[in-house]
Amino acid sequence: MKIAVMPGDGVGKEVVPEGLKVLKVVSEKFGFSYTTDHYPFGGEYYLEKKETLPNSALKELAAHDAILFGAVGVDPRGSTQIPQGILEAEILLKMRFELDQYINLRPTKLLPGVPTPLKNVGPADIDMVIVRENTEGLYCQNGGFLYKGTQHEVANQIEVTTRRGVERAIRYAFDYAKQFNRKKVTLVAKTNVLRFAHNLWQRAFEEVKTDYPGIETDYHHVDACTMYMVTKPKIYDVIVTTNMFGDIITDLGAAIQGGMGMAASGNLNPTRQAASMFEPVHGSAPDIAGKNLANPIATFLSVGMMLDFLNQPKAARAIYQACADVVADPKNHTRDLGGTCTTTQVGETVCAKLA
Ligand SMILES: NC(=O)c1ccc[n+]([C@@H]2O[C@H](COP(=O)([O-])OP(=O)(O)OC[C@H]3O[C@@H](n4cnc5c(N)ncnc54)[C@H](O)[C@@H]3O)[C@@H](O)[C@H]2O)c1
Repeated sequence: MKIAVMPGDGVGKEVVPEGLKVLKVVSEKFGFSYTTDHYPFGGEYYLEKKETLPNSALKELAAHDAILFGAVGVDPRGSTQIPQGILEAEILLKMRFELDQYINLRPTKLLPGVPTPLKNVGPADIDMVIVRENTEGLYCQNGGFLYKGTQHEVANQIEVTTRRGVERAIRYAFDYAKQFNRKKVTLVAKTNVLRFAHNLWQRAFEEVKTDYPGIETDYHHVDACTMYMVTKPKIYDVIVTTNMFGDIITDLGAAIQGGMGMAASGNLNPTRQAASMFEPVHGSAPDIAGKNLANPIATFLSVGMMLDFLNQPKAARAIYQACADVVADPKNHTRDLGGTCTTTQVGETVCAKLA
């Protein structure tokens, strides 16, 4: 396996090295080999070199089997020298779009022992997988200004929805449900107001579901979905949704599964024609960066997702189980979960468990 490693900024530089230690331990245990290539891109690199992600590097990244990514973003002091949104657009979105990582997969599961802000809710109630369409919608950078800065200013941000893009996301959600024995797929959109783009989503969903007769289906408007994720999260199994709504509800999902330190993700190109990217959901967390306080579990779970995608299901399962076992004991919690452990201590405990 050829793995590209891009820690990025802030806590990304702390959690990714721990993730690499976990990868090393499972590779030895399960007998697979891999190579890593390291890439420096991110906010700090931009401040130094005035470069985001050059096309030559993107081409190299594409040729890997997977990319392990940390987070990009510098602290508010440095960020004033970085044009708004440039790191997201020219690094993260560039990889997602150019490598056609059209699925953003976000398992949202509350592990035993992890505190959730929801009352009277336990691990049996929060176990869903959110499939977010990742290359269309409002994220295509399709828009612009007219008469910028004047009283007549016009700003357009156009939602792009194609039959192909929608259908492949919906099919992925159903295939995932079938493969992992999930019972229900819920489409989350806003068909009552976005009567064109989301009408296309709904029609595609209605058609595709007929190919998966054993799987129950449902539809929720996104506003209702945010309410149900808090009041009765148990109703969700697999959710498929748009890029914009997925961005929002997956952070809500992260919050109910114990916070940013617990939420893993994969940006998948299921065709495998270019590398898929795996990353903890959180950002560079400038408030805790450099202090050995970040929770590395989200990164470990992302490494597990990466290995699952790279056909190492036993190693993936072992990482998941080691993380679950470790966080089950509050003695192993980092500060975000109410504990006192450091990033490296959690890394050592997970590695020891795996070994
Ligand atoms: N995928 C990415 O690279 C990504 C995602 C989100 C934000 N960002 C960038 O990161 C920077 C900071 O953004 P933000 O503060 O809005 O979001 P953030 O995710 O970095 O932090 C939000 C809160 O969660 C906490 N947190 C985050 N990760 C944690 C971890 N592993 N363990 C414990 N606590 C953790 C932080 O301390 C902070 O209180 C910004 O520059 C933003 O643009 C990048």
